Amino acid sequence: MAGEMENQSSAALRHVGIIMDGNGRWAAARGLPRTLGHRAGVDAVRKTVRAAGELGISYLTLYAFSSENWSRPKQEVRDLLGLMKLFITRDLAELCANGVRIRVIGDRQGLSRDILGLIDMAESRSAANTGLNLNIAFNYGGRDEIRRAVIGLVGRMEAEGRDCASITESDITGALDTGGQPDLDLVIRTSGEMRLSNFMLWQAAYSEFVFLPCMWPDFDKSWLEQAIEEYSSRTRRYGGVPDADAKDIAL
Ligand code: FPP
Repeated sequence: MAGEMENQSSAALRHVGIIMDGNGRWAAARGLPRTLGHRAGVDAVRKTVRAAGELGISYLTLYAFSSENWSRPKQEVRDLLGLMKLFITRDLAELCANGVRIRVIGDRQGLSRDILGLIDMAESRSAANTGLNLNIAFNYGGRDEIRRAVIGLVGRMEAEGRDCASITESDITGALDTGGQPDLDLVIRTSGEMRLSNFMLWQAAYSEFVFLPCMWPDFDKSWLEQAIEEYSSRTRRYGGVPDADAKDIAL
């Protein structure tokens, strides 16, 4: 509903989401096992978080592990979970020192106790930080996030005796894992693939998309700057027309 939409200027860049793709191809091109591509991908994560802070981005969401990634070979899944754990244990202190606030979005159900403990630790230790807001999408699927949000919302409304027919778009926005955060302004995907792959379907409704040819492990500050430059050249219309073209039409 237009009335519910936030009025954002085209220049404002508050929330960037990244679909980190191409670790496997990066490794294959070097005759390396896929797991080394993922490991190199973690180095790119570190560089990107640092760069996002330096460039004044307020919210950064990284798609680290989708609900569909469980279908990969067991060893690869183990490697990816291991890298996630290692990232939190090794990098949390530095992230906190740099003022980064960490949130992990996605379904927590079914995650092992050690991962849940690390996620809780990362979120609680960084909760008071006021720098970059880093969302790590882990065991995440956009449709599943909307499903969980609606279930939570309906449950709360029924408990309060409210009519579910009155649910608004803002109610759903607020019930998502990203409740309280701005919608995505810019979605970047590396590796040349041009798909959304179930990433933040609701939050990306009016995002600009930039698809880059580089594989994720090669991503760095200069690629991020390039994507931002491309974003700055776009005119965001949210379904309307640019002001100069707007005409009064008697209906
Ligand atoms: C896509 O490349 C990448 C992933 C499925 C995982 C991304 C994970 C990381 C960068 C490491 C862990 C992240 C954090 C935040 C610690 P792909 O394997 O699909 O590559 P391909 O399409 O070339 O095969």
